[in-house]
Amino acid sequence: MDSNNLVHFESIFVFCEVVIISCTIYDVARKAGVSIATVSRVLNNSELVSEKTKQKVKMAIEELNYTPNIIASALTKKSTLTIGLLIPDISNPFYSELSRGVEDACNDFGFNTVICNTDYCIQKETAYINLLRQKSVDGFVITTAHYNDENVINLAKDKVPLVLLDRNIDKSSGYDIDVVCSDNVTSGYLATNHLIQLGHKSIACFLGPPQIEVNIERARGYVKAIKEACLKIVPELVAYGDFKLDFGYKKTLELLNRGLRPTAFFAANDLIALGIIRALKSVGFSVPADISVVGCDNTILAELTDPQLTTINQPIREMGYYATELLIKKLKGERSKSEKIIFNTELVVRKSTSVCKKIGVIN
Ligand code: RIB
Repeated sequence: MDSNNLVHFESIFVFCEVVIISCTIYDVARKAGVSIATVSRVLNNSELVSEKTKQKVKMAIEELNYTPNIIASALTKKSTLTIGLLIPDISNPFYSELSRGVEDACNDFGFNTVICNTDYCIQKETAYINLLRQKSVDGFVITTAHYNDENVINLAKDKVPLVLLDRNIDKSSGYDIDVVCSDNVTSGYLATNHLIQLGHKSIACFLGPPQIEVNIERARGYVKAIKEACLKIVPELVAYGDFKLDFGYKKTLELLNRGLRPTAFFAANDLIALGIIRALKSVGFSVPADISVVGCDNTILAELTDPQLTTINQPIREMGYYATELLIKKLKGERSKSEKIIFNTELVVRKSTSVCKKIGVIN
């Protein structure tokens, strides 16, 4: 076969391939001898269709190798049955557990999930939101990285259904925005009070980014416990950074190198706590014999480290599931008023904290 014929043959082949794949709901209805509406009911598992008719339609779908055209159904039903989830750090186990809850809820309610990692970058968040809006997602579940996130306000102004998960923004109460988070003030209080009850009076507090409400609230809980015990707040022992192991590690070494030696640390998440423990061990301290450490989140890491981490449990998966359920119920018209739901947290005592045996050095 010469090259011209080959090109001609390939173009016919490609054309035929396109014809086989692009059969429509109309072809299925015609082959099964039913209406379009009946095929649509079968595709949506309606109970209004007899078993006999269901089998006829399913056989036609199989023989024609029909796959529902998502864009076409979006144009007719104005729904792609898709939720966009934006998270700030996909490498943090907290977000894999949170995403698990969102995805489970989407599965249970017949929706798909598109997960986007924003890396705490507002430009990436903006680009993902624009992309998902072009793809006509039905709504958003957003764990924002910024307390004054204009993207969220713009979505609310455009009446795009959304829920803020784990983190709130400063203007949410003025818009139709659901918020699902945990009691972060109590988390900070429980962690710090646990250390105070063990006799610690010199307690450092390492937090994530200051532009996130979660950290402002956990710091508030830390201050509340310190003041309640009539202890002093030592500014040099309180630091904002990021929710990463490296921040906990480097900040601890910096503190020790300045001659500051608290007897305990409260870390605003488990990764920071692991960084603190690694730094303390690297310069010969024993945890908790010399210095106690408490984290926050209670991700899988808390059980895997040595010593196992005393931490604050957040109902992570439940928060993700419940937030998504709220959004889907709003999409289905089953609820309208926006709510702020705050989940309780609790102290989980493991092996990284013990009674204070030494006096801290804070001068
Ligand atoms: O580990 C990530 C932290 O940021 C968690 O504590 C969670 O609450 C999120 O806000």
